[in-house]
Amino acid sequence: MTKPRILIVDDSAAIRRSLKVLIEPLDAEIIEAANGRQGFDLAKESSFNIIISDIEMPEMNGIDFCKNLKSNPVTQSIPVVIVSSFDTDDDINKGFEAGASMYIPKDEAKIYLKKTVEEILTKSTFQSKRLIMVVDDSTSILHIVSNGLIQAGFQVITAENGKKALELLSVNQPDLILSDIDMPEMNGFEFCKAVRLNPNLSLIPFLVMSANTDRGHMNRMMQQGAAAYICKPFNTDQLVIMVEKLLSDQFLLLLKERERLDAESNLMVASITSLVTALEARDPYTSGHSEAVAEIVSGMLGLAGGRSVEIERVIIGCRLHDIGKIGVRDSVLLKPGKLDKVEFDHIKEHPIIGYNILKSIPSLSDIIPIVQFHHERMDGKGYPDGLKGDNIHLWARMTAVADTYHSLISDRPYRIGMIREKALQIISDIKGTQLCPECVDLFLKWVD
Ligand SMILES: [Fe+2]
Repeated sequence: MTKPRILIVDDSAAIRRSLKVLIEPLDAEIIEAANGRQGFDLAKESSFNIIISDIEMPEMNGIDFCKNLKSNPVTQSIPVVIVSSFDTDDDINKGFEAGASMYIPKDEAKIYLKKTVEEILTKSTFQSKRLIMVVDDSTSILHIVSNGLIQAGFQVITAENGKKALELLSVNQPDLILSDIDMPEMNGFEFCKAVRLNPNLSLIPFLVMSANTDRGHMNRMMQQGAAAYICKPFNTDQLVIMVEKLLSDQFLLLLKERERLDAESNLMVASITSLVTALEARDPYTSGHSEAVAEIVSGMLGLAGGRSVEIERVIIGCRLHDIGKIGVRDSVLLKPGKLDKVEFDHIKEHPIIGYNILKSIPSLSDIIPIVQFHHERMDGKGYPDGLKGDNIHLWARMTAVADTYHSLISDRPYRIGMIREKALQIISDIKGTQLCPECVDLFLKWVD
């Protein structure tokens, strides 16, 4: 992630240094300017996430600097924090009127500056990714509302009526729609209804702005699925507060929905894993095999520097790698002797059966290659697809090593499990032909 860029503007080098020290823990790239003129030139040339400015400076004072920033389309969305020793109510009001986001008296900077900058950065990162669609047939309202939202850090797209807005929605997915009611071609009622009926758009919060304060009108709009209603005339500050509130409600709603889906997915994985455990438990020779494979592969991945999220996924994939054996006939799966060709061909279907079981579960899509390809070989003589070398997913190649090793050391109806040294010798012997050389090296390092 790139570091946030902060511009500090003050004519005193000592003060710039002390402000810099205060915000150093935020790990930002900090650039300095000695007055408003220099600061304004820098802000026009390169982008800043936030500007901290003094008031009393030569060439261009802080108030003029702030006004200039706010009236230039390139710089108007940069939040400005004023840090000044002028701290009467009148000074503070002047700062806010010029467009500052925050005003901090100089002797309180030690307490508030870092926290304020941190909050503004978090908010602007959240908002800069938010796209708002504004729909109104009045060009001046489109202009005022868009400017207000852009200044608050949002991205904006506009349309002059519902019909044009729907066309735009086929290529853009805004986070919120803000629409007038009385418009030509397609009015707000029809537009809102069309949005609600489209499954791809129906969850986008719809905010109505209208000069019509008639209660029946408002009710009708809310019945149509609008999330809120704001009456014209309004000032853009009121509007921005409402938009932020609706977006944070929506954010919390989506967060809750994601938590619910995660919980469902965990439950599903737990159910499928217990199916595998039950499947293995029927056969004393394979009991605990998938768990052992999961332990080996997660150890290997940990050794290779895998991230903990990857290790968690690999554990799930390995626990489920033989899930397809659910579809193999008992007479073959539990046969107490060597398998003939027809029986072995039936066993070889298990990676595909496993793939077919899991393919409809989106939350498991990343671990499917383990299930589908753990019997592929480096030389292309494996199954089901005869894939070669690096074309086989790395997690599947790692699983193949662990699967082979654990099968060799486990008892089978027709032989007892090999001793560790002999199994390791076989693993080394088939390195490069059957098993991935790097994965074997990693395994040997892990088992050591
Ligand atoms: Fe298998």
